[in-house]
Amino acid sequence: MRIAIVTGASSGIGREFVRQIEKFYKELDEIWVIARREERLQELKKNMSTYVRIFAGDMQKNLVYKQVLNRLENQTPDIRMLVNAAGFGKTGTVEEISKQDRRLQPQMAEVNCCGLTEMTCLCLPYMSKGSRIVNVASAAAFCPQTRFAVYAATKAYVLSFSRALGEELKEKEIFVTAVCPGPVDTEFFEISGTSASTLKESFMACPKDVVRRALLDSRRKKELSIYGKAMKGARIAAKIIPHKLLLKIMGRLDRIQSEKNEEDTEE
Ligand SMILES: NC(=O)c1ccc[n+]([C@@H]2O[C@H](COP(=O)([O-])OP(=O)(O)OC[C@H]3O[C@@H](n4cnc5c(N)ncnc54)[C@H](OP(=O)(O)O)[C@@H]3O)[C@@H](O)[C@H]2O)c1
Repeated sequence: MRIAIVTGASSGIGREFVRQIEKFYKELDEIWVIARREERLQELKKNMSTYVRIFAGDMQKNLVYKQVLNRLENQTPDIRMLVNAAGFGKTGTVEEISKQDRRLQPQMAEVNCCGLTEMTCLCLPYMSKGSRIVNVASAAAFCPQTRFAVYAATKAYVLSFSRALGEELKEKEIFVTAVCPGPVDTEFFEISGTSASTLKESFMACPKDVVRRALLDSRRKKELSIYGKAMKGARIAAKIIPHKLLLKIMGRLDRIQSEKNEEDTEE
């Protein structure tokens, strides 16, 4: 049995992967989907022609991994593609976020890093020549970011992990692609706590385009998938400009913004 597995399939980028995968891999028997919101996964299932198997659960808890593992052991499928898209971010300084909720930043690391690593380790024994792993990182992986410190660090982990894993799996001809989009129009910004800034809005990409690019890049065995000229430019800039300087500029911009916010509330 040939399958694809997609985490974070209840919305945004993950859901779009599920929709597009069946067009890219016509020979799939099932697509296994993982997220907490089961009703969303049921809705997605209704509109798919490939059979969708639902694993509704929290990737910060063990149960959902156990359920996937049991199915894998019972059915020994050939996993043609694993997409690790589950993740979230929260904007603010480390101190601010911690005051709101002490567990939130560790949880970000649990889902974005540990969840992705655990899914990869579970799936690897069921992958074979030509299988693909697509890990959704972010352009935030390119350099440290103030007011997004933990999120950017988790995505740097995803990028680093994916590149090393890709090299390790080359002989087996299993190909790993790290997807590094800039802002994408999804529910991400509702959870991150701020609306996208005007600058971010001007670079906002559509999930359909980001996912199409990612699937094409994965098919071409590319290590990285970066949608759009602006983010390709950002990657080059983050390679050329010292990160110390970039952080200084970000810090300065943050201070200007918070002074502006204070003035606005006084008025
Ligand atoms: N949107 C952007 O601007 C952007 C840019 C670069 C990278 N990314 C990355 O793209 C990926 C997808 O994000 P998105 O933009 O599509 O946002 P989204 O619409 O909020 O989707 C996030 C997905 O992750 C799942 N998820 C979150 N926490 C989970 C948990 N504890 N257990 C299981 N599933 C969980 C959510 O499902 P449930 O809530 O149903 O559990 C949802 O399906 C993330 O890794 C994000 O970091 C996003």
